[in-house]
Amino acid sequence: KVDTRCDLMLFGALGDLAQRKLFPALYQLARANLLAEGSRILAIARTETDTAGVREQLLDRLQQVIRPDEFDRSVAEAFLQRVEYQLLDFNDPDGFSALNNWRDSAHNELIVYMATPPAMYGVIARNLRTAGCCTDRTRVVVEKPIGHDLESSKVINDELGEVYRENQLFRIDHYLGKETVQNLIALRFANNLFASQWDQNHISHVEITVAEAVGIEGRWGYFDKAGQIRDMIQNHLLQLLCLIAMDPPSDLSADSIRDEKVKVLKALREITPDMMERYVVRGQYTAGTSGGQPVPGYLEEEGANRGSETETFVALKVEIDNWRWSGVPFYIRTGKRLPEKLSQIIIHFKPAPHYIFDPDQKHLANNKLIIRLQPDEGMALKILTKDQGLDKGMRLRQGPLELTFSETFDAERIPDAYERLLWEVMKGNQYLFVRRDEVEHAWRWVDRVIRNWHDSGEPPKRYAAGTWGPVASIAMITRDGRSWYEDV
Ligand code: BG6
Repeated sequence: KVDTRCDLMLFGALGDLAQRKLFPALYQLARANLLAEGSRILAIARTETDTAGVREQLLDRLQQVIRPDEFDRSVAEAFLQRVEYQLLDFNDPDGFSALNNWRDSAHNELIVYMATPPAMYGVIARNLRTAGCCTDRTRVVVEKPIGHDLESSKVINDELGEVYRENQLFRIDHYLGKETVQNLIALRFANNLFASQWDQNHISHVEITVAEAVGIEGRWGYFDKAGQIRDMIQNHLLQLLCLIAMDPPSDLSADSIRDEKVKVLKALREITPDMMERYVVRGQYTAGTSGGQPVPGYLEEEGANRGSETETFVALKVEIDNWRWSGVPFYIRTGKRLPEKLSQIIIHFKPAPHYIFDPDQKHLANNKLIIRLQPDEGMALKILTKDQGLDKGMRLRQGPLELTFSETFDAERIPDAYERLLWEVMKGNQYLFVRRDEVEHAWRWVDRVIRNWHDSGEPPKRYAAGTWGPVASIAMITRDGRSWYEDV
């Protein structure tokens, strides 16, 4: 059994991520008895307040964000007894000695969580080292974005690398903490039924959709510099693609899995300028509706620069130049202000070599595996059976073999991604975290697309809020004789 007892230093503890995700996740770990006896949390920020004030504020916040049936006041109060507050200017090396005094290095491993802008990672790491707060066993958790492009990501990784070794760094991509994302590994490598079908002989194409109904939610300043390709494709969607496309790792160790993902990233076909029109669609939402209510366009959001050409939608056709995936396109799309929040992967299998049923039904004749990441986590395998009834002859019907996790594993709540990720950090297991070379290969590929956009000078295509993106994204897939899948 691994000892998970730790001192967690949380930089940026009063920020949005910590309040919305990290403290609730730590509370849930405490509720599940996974927060080891003796583990403590130091909330670190620049705001003038004290431990009592922070505990009070956190109690309020937990009560708001935790579902009422999962909120237990006595658990929350006991959990908050582990939290202390430290006021700190991250740029002031002298202030860091207070952190060292707080540590219980005799009993607890140190985890440093940087929930701060990435520009702070280097200075925090150096000041911790100067204060004597780092050992070879210290684990450091950092959030995306790791840079704005390949070059800036190297600067951040170099700064971290000056102080910590790669096996101490836990780079978060919260999609890797989602239950169904991990299930991809189980599905693919525990079921030979799928493992033996998982290549260009049997699969015609793959679709990955990560749609959000929300708009920019007050984050215009950050988002406008990033855009959907940096905010979602460079990390979450390419990680999903890697988990679908990678070869079987020889074991479940972090490096075996990450080595295989890197091979996929290296095999992504570079998108050259002449391919842009057929392989890339870039969109920006205009006014429309969301959940039946009128909503403003991207350029009318609060704080908007009216001339912005930042994209809020991207659709890409991705080719993987290797033996397994030759000729199998991966169509991926993600956007804000789409009709619903939906993340799903669809594997389209090839039809049988010879078709003997009703010619009118030939379009049904391929199996699909639908993997739903959210909402309603689960999987469905669409198979063909005979329609029932004497008068139906051999008419076919396409129906699902369905596995909805909430029904199948009833009573078991599905943990939030951050709960699992924090738990893995406490155990010291890096397999759900992103290695430096993954970040860099992903940037290299994405940078090329962004450079092509800039060179072409083309503005993003408009789409009304509440629709599935610019029509060009539909044209991109229909040109190949396919369509984005809708469950009809
Ligand atoms: C974040 C992006 O990484 O992921 C956000 O910065 C996005 O823009 C979010 O909304 C989506 O995450 P989830 O878990 O809600 O699908």
